[in-house]
Amino acid sequence: MYVGELLKGLDRLPTGVPGLDNLIGGGFLPGRVYLITGPPGSGKTTLGIQFLVEGANNDEKGLFISLFETQDVILRDMLRYNFGILEHFQSKRIAFYDLGEILLSTNRELTWDELFKLLIEIIKREKAKRVVIDSFSLFESFVSDPAGKKKALGRFVRLLRSLEVTTLLLAEMLSSEKYTDEYYLADGVIVLHHFMRNYQMVRALQILKMRGVPHDSNLKRLRFTTDGIRVYPEAPL
Ligand SMILES: Nc1ncnc2c1ncn2[C@@H]1O[C@H](COP(=O)(O)OP(=O)(O)O)[C@@H](O)[C@H]1O
Ligand SMILES: [Mg+2]
Repeated sequence: MYVGELLKGLDRLPTGVPGLDNLIGGGFLPGRVYLITGPPGSGKTTLGIQFLVEGANNDEKGLFISLFETQDVILRDMLRYNFGILEHFQSKRIAFYDLGEILLSTNRELTWDELFKLLIEIIKREKAKRVVIDSFSLFESFVSDPAGKKKALGRFVRLLRSLEVTTLLLAEMLSSEKYTDEYYLADGVIVLHHFMRNYQMVRALQILKMRGVPHDSNLKRLRFTTDGIRVYPEAPL
Protein backbone atom coordinates (compact mmCIF):
# COMPACT_ATOMS: atom_id res chain seq x y z
CA MET A 1 0.00 0.00 0.00
CA TYR A 2 1.29 3.49 -0.86
CA VAL A 3 1.78 6.11 1.84
CA GLY A 4 -0.84 8.26 0.07
CA GLU A 5 -3.41 5.51 0.52
CA LEU A 6 -2.48 5.08 4.15
CA LEU A 7 -2.85 8.81 4.74
CA LYS A 8 -6.21 8.80 2.97
CA GLY A 9 -7.32 6.47 5.73
CA LEU A 10 -6.64 9.20 8.24
CA ASP A 11 -9.53 11.36 7.01
CA ARG A 12 -12.21 11.58 9.64
CA LEU A 13 -15.94 11.39 9.18
CA PRO A 14 -17.88 13.74 11.48
CA THR A 15 -20.21 11.71 13.69
CA GLY A 16 -23.05 14.25 13.78
CA VAL A 17 -23.03 14.21 17.59
CA PRO A 18 -21.78 17.54 19.00
CA GLY A 19 -18.92 16.93 21.41
CA LEU A 20 -18.16 13.39 20.24
CA ASP A 21 -15.71 14.06 17.38
CA ASN A 22 -13.08 15.65 19.57
CA LEU A 23 -13.18 12.66 21.94
CA ILE A 24 -12.22 10.30 19.09
CA GLY A 25 -9.62 12.19 17.11
CA GLY A 26 -11.99 14.15 14.85
CA GLY A 27 -14.62 11.56 13.93
CA PHE A 28 -15.01 7.99 12.70
CA LEU A 29 -12.61 6.47 10.19
CA PRO A 30 -14.27 6.01 6.79
CA GLY A 31 -14.94 2.40 5.85
CA ARG A 32 -14.85 1.14 9.42
CA VAL A 33 -17.42 -0.60 11.61
CA TYR A 34 -18.38 0.74 15.04
CA LEU A 35 -20.47 -0.83 17.76
CA ILE A 36 -22.85 1.44 19.68
CA THR A 37 -24.25 -0.33 22.68
CA GLY A 38 -26.35 0.53 25.71
CA PRO A 39 -29.58 -0.25 27.52
CA PRO A 40 -33.01 0.63 26.08
CA GLY A 41 -33.66 4.37 26.01
CA SER A 42 -29.96 5.27 26.19
CA GLY A 43 -29.91 7.07 22.81
CA LYS A 44 -28.62 4.46 20.33
CA THR A 45 -31.25 5.05 17.66
CA THR A 46 -30.96 8.83 18.08
CA LEU A 47 -27.16 8.64 17.65
CA GLY A 48 -27.60 6.45 14.57
CA ILE A 49 -30.02 8.91 12.96
CA GLN A 50 -27.72 11.85 13.80
CA PHE A 51 -24.86 10.05 12.05
CA LEU A 52 -26.98 9.58 8.91
CA VAL A 53 -28.30 13.16 8.99
CA GLU A 54 -24.73 14.49 9.22
CA GLY A 55 -23.88 12.48 6.10
CA ALA A 56 -27.07 13.50 4.25
CA ASN A 57 -26.26 17.17 4.92
CA ASN A 58 -22.92 16.55 3.17
CA ASP A 59 -24.38 14.60 0.24
CA GLU A 60 -23.32 11.21 1.56
CA LYS A 61 -26.03 8.66 1.04
CA GLY A 62 -27.31 7.12 4.28
CA LEU A 63 -29.12 3.83 4.90
CA PHE A 64 -31.04 2.86 8.02
CA ILE A 65 -31.58 -0.91 8.19
CA SER A 66 -34.26 -1.64 10.72
CA LEU A 67 -34.85 -4.99 12.35
CA PHE A 68 -37.59 -3.99 14.72
CA GLU A 69 -39.19 -0.60 14.12
CA THR A 70 -41.10 0.48 11.04
CA GLN A 71 -40.25 3.69 9.21
CA ASP A 72 -43.35 5.39 10.68
CA VAL A 73 -42.22 4.77 14.25
CA ILE A 74 -38.66 6.01 13.63
CA LEU A 75 -39.99 9.03 11.77
CA ARG A 76 -42.47 9.87 14.53
CA ASP A 77 -39.77 9.58 17.23
CA MET A 78 -37.23 11.65 15.28
CA LEU A 79 -39.58 14.40 14.05
CA ARG A 80 -39.32 16.21 17.36
CA TYR A 81 -35.65 16.92 16.76
CA ASN A 82 -34.38 19.60 14.35
CA PHE A 83 -32.93 16.96 12.02
CA GLY A 84 -35.06 17.68 8.94
CA ILE A 85 -35.55 13.91 8.97
CA LEU A 86 -38.75 13.97 6.87
CA GLU A 87 -37.00 15.80 4.00
CA HIS A 88 -34.06 13.41 4.19
CA PHE A 89 -36.35 10.36 4.00
CA GLN A 90 -38.47 11.90 1.23
CA SER A 91 -35.46 12.87 -0.87
CA LYS A 92 -33.94 9.41 -0.16
CA ARG A 93 -30.70 11.00 1.01
CA ILE A 94 -31.47 8.61 3.87
CA ALA A 95 -33.03 5.35 2.71
CA PHE A 96 -34.99 3.22 5.15
CA TYR A 97 -34.95 -0.55 4.76
CA ASP A 98 -37.31 -2.66 6.84
CA LEU A 99 -35.26 -5.87 7.01
CA GLY A 100 -37.24 -7.14 10.01
CA GLU A 101 -40.33 -7.34 7.84
CA ILE A 102 -38.47 -9.35 5.19
CA LEU A 103 -36.85 -11.74 7.67
CA LEU A 104 -40.11 -12.33 9.52
CA SER A 105 -41.92 -13.17 6.29
CA THR A 106 -39.36 -15.73 5.04
CA ASN A 107 -40.03 -19.27 6.19
CA ARG A 108 -36.43 -20.37 6.21
CA GLU A 109 -33.77 -19.28 8.69
CA LEU A 110 -30.66 -17.77 7.10
CA THR A 111 -27.05 -18.50 7.91
CA TRP A 112 -24.82 -15.62 9.05
CA ASP A 113 -23.13 -15.63 5.63
CA GLU A 114 -26.48 -15.42 3.82
CA LEU A 115 -27.58 -12.62 6.10
CA PHE A 116 -24.44 -10.57 5.50
CA LYS A 117 -24.68 -11.24 1.75
CA LEU A 118 -28.19 -9.81 1.85
CA LEU A 119 -26.96 -6.76 3.77
CA ILE A 120 -24.18 -6.14 1.24
CA GLU A 121 -26.69 -6.39 -1.63
CA ILE A 122 -28.93 -3.79 0.02
CA ILE A 123 -25.99 -1.47 0.78
CA LYS A 124 -24.71 -1.71 -2.81
CA ARG A 125 -28.16 -1.22 -4.30
CA GLU A 126 -28.71 1.90 -2.20
CA LYS A 127 -25.15 3.14 -2.93
CA ALA A 128 -24.94 3.96 0.77
CA LYS A 129 -21.81 5.45 2.33
CA ARG A 130 -23.13 5.58 5.90
CA VAL A 131 -25.09 2.62 7.25
CA VAL A 132 -26.86 2.04 10.56
CA ILE A 133 -28.16 -1.39 11.59
CA ASP A 134 -30.76 -1.15 14.38
CA SER A 135 -30.44 -3.46 16.04
CA PHE A 136 -27.64 -5.88 15.27
CA SER A 137 -28.48 -7.94 18.40
CA LEU A 138 -31.74 -9.01 16.79
CA PHE A 139 -29.93 -10.97 14.08
CA GLU A 140 -29.11 -13.62 16.66
CA SER A 141 -32.74 -14.70 16.68
CA PHE A 142 -32.93 -15.01 12.89
CA VAL A 143 -29.92 -17.19 12.08
CA SER A 144 -29.64 -20.94 11.80
CA ASP A 145 -25.89 -21.22 12.55
CA PRO A 146 -25.05 -19.22 15.70
CA ALA A 147 -21.50 -20.64 15.72
CA GLY A 148 -20.76 -19.26 12.24
CA LYS A 149 -20.97 -15.66 13.39
CA LYS A 150 -17.36 -14.71 14.01
CA LYS A 151 -16.00 -15.78 10.61
CA ALA A 152 -18.95 -14.37 8.69
CA LEU A 153 -18.80 -11.08 10.59
CA GLY A 154 -15.06 -10.85 9.87
CA ARG A 155 -15.74 -11.24 6.13
CA PHE A 156 -18.55 -8.66 6.32
CA VAL A 157 -16.28 -6.11 8.05
CA ARG A 158 -13.62 -6.55 5.33
CA LEU A 159 -16.17 -6.15 2.55
CA LEU A 160 -17.55 -2.97 4.11
CA ARG A 161 -14.02 -1.61 4.26
CA SER A 162 -13.40 -2.37 0.59
CA LEU A 163 -16.69 -0.64 -0.29
CA GLU A 164 -15.69 2.37 1.87
CA VAL A 165 -18.94 2.13 3.78
CA THR A 166 -18.90 3.37 7.37
CA THR A 167 -21.24 1.33 9.55
CA LEU A 168 -22.73 1.65 13.00
CA LEU A 169 -24.02 -1.56 14.57
CA LEU A 170 -26.48 -0.62 17.29
CA ALA A 171 -26.78 -3.32 19.93
CA GLU A 172 -28.64 -3.92 23.15
CA MET A 173 -26.40 -4.07 26.18
CA LEU A 174 -26.07 -7.57 27.53
CA SER A 175 -24.34 -8.31 30.81
CA SER A 176 -21.06 -6.41 30.82
CA GLU A 177 -19.04 -9.60 31.29
CA LYS A 178 -20.36 -11.02 28.06
CA TYR A 179 -18.44 -9.56 25.13
CA THR A 180 -19.88 -10.68 21.81
CA ASP A 181 -17.80 -11.04 18.60
CA GLU A 182 -18.68 -7.53 17.44
CA TYR A 183 -16.80 -6.06 20.43
CA TYR A 184 -13.63 -7.64 19.07
CA LEU A 185 -14.20 -7.09 15.37
CA ALA A 186 -15.43 -3.48 15.49
CA ASP A 187 -12.90 -0.66 15.10
CA GLY A 188 -14.55 1.16 17.96
CA VAL A 189 -17.05 0.54 20.75
CA ILE A 190 -19.12 3.34 22.27
CA VAL A 191 -21.28 2.60 25.30
CA LEU A 192 -24.26 4.77 26.20
CA HIS A 193 -25.28 4.69 29.84
CA HIS A 194 -28.15 5.84 32.00
CA PHE A 195 -28.46 5.42 35.73
CA MET A 196 -30.15 7.00 38.74
CA ARG A 197 -28.27 9.23 41.13
CA ASN A 198 -29.98 11.11 43.98
CA TYR A 199 -33.33 10.42 42.29
CA GLN A 200 -32.03 12.02 39.06
CA MET A 201 -31.48 10.23 35.79
CA VAL A 202 -27.88 10.69 34.68
CA ARG A 203 -26.90 10.01 31.05
CA ALA A 204 -23.37 9.36 29.87
CA LEU A 205 -21.27 8.20 26.93
CA GLN A 206 -18.12 6.11 27.17
CA ILE A 207 -15.51 5.35 24.53
CA LEU A 208 -14.67 1.75 25.40
CA LYS A 209 -12.48 1.11 22.38
CA MET A 210 -11.30 3.23 19.46
CA ARG A 211 -8.55 1.84 17.23
CA GLY A 212 -5.81 4.23 16.24
CA VAL A 213 -6.68 7.05 18.66
CA PRO A 214 -5.55 7.66 22.19
CA HIS A 215 -8.76 8.30 24.10
CA ASP A 216 -10.16 8.79 27.52
CA SER A 217 -12.40 5.90 28.62
CA ASN A 218 -14.15 7.72 31.44
CA LEU A 219 -17.84 8.53 31.35
CA LYS A 220 -18.76 11.84 29.70
CA ARG A 221 -22.02 13.62 30.32
CA LEU A 222 -24.65 13.19 27.62
CA ARG A 223 -27.84 15.20 27.26
CA PHE A 224 -30.80 15.12 24.94
CA THR A 225 -31.47 18.49 23.27
CA THR A 226 -33.78 19.56 20.43
CA ASP A 227 -30.79 18.87 18.15
CA GLY A 228 -30.47 15.29 19.39
CA ILE A 229 -27.86 14.01 21.79
CA ARG A 230 -24.84 16.08 22.74
CA VAL A 231 -21.74 15.04 24.67
CA TYR A 232 -19.97 17.27 27.17
CA PRO A 233 -16.33 16.95 28.20
CA GLU A 234 -17.12 16.73 31.90
CA ALA A 235 -17.86 13.68 34.04
CA PRO A 236 -21.59 13.04 34.55
CA LEU A 237 -21.47 13.01 38.34
N1 LIG B 1 -35.50 15.57 25.70
C1 LIG B 1 -35.24 14.44 26.32
N2 LIG B 1 -34.85 14.43 27.61
C2 LIG B 1 -34.55 13.28 28.24
N3 LIG B 1 -34.64 12.08 27.68
C3 LIG B 1 -35.05 12.02 26.41
C4 LIG B 1 -35.35 13.17 25.66
N4 LIG B 1 -35.69 12.79 24.44
C5 LIG B 1 -35.58 11.45 24.42
N5 LIG B 1 -35.22 10.99 25.61
C6 LIG B 1 -35.00 9.59 25.98
O1 LIG B 1 -34.40 8.94 24.90
C7 LIG B 1 -35.08 7.74 24.61
C8 LIG B 1 -35.03 7.45 23.14
O2 LIG B 1 -33.71 7.25 22.75
P1 LIG B 1 -33.37 6.16 21.67
O3 LIG B 1 -32.36 6.79 20.81
O4 LIG B 1 -34.58 5.62 21.04
O5 LIG B 1 -32.72 5.07 22.62
P2 LIG B 1 -32.37 3.55 22.32
O6 LIG B 1 -32.33 3.39 20.85
O7 LIG B 1 -31.07 3.35 23.01
O8 LIG B 1 -33.46 2.75 22.97
C9 LIG B 1 -36.47 7.99 25.06
O9 LIG B 1 -37.09 6.79 25.39
C10 LIG B 1 -36.27 8.85 26.27
O10 LIG B 1 -36.04 8.04 27.39
MG1 LIG C 1 -33.43 2.09 19.65
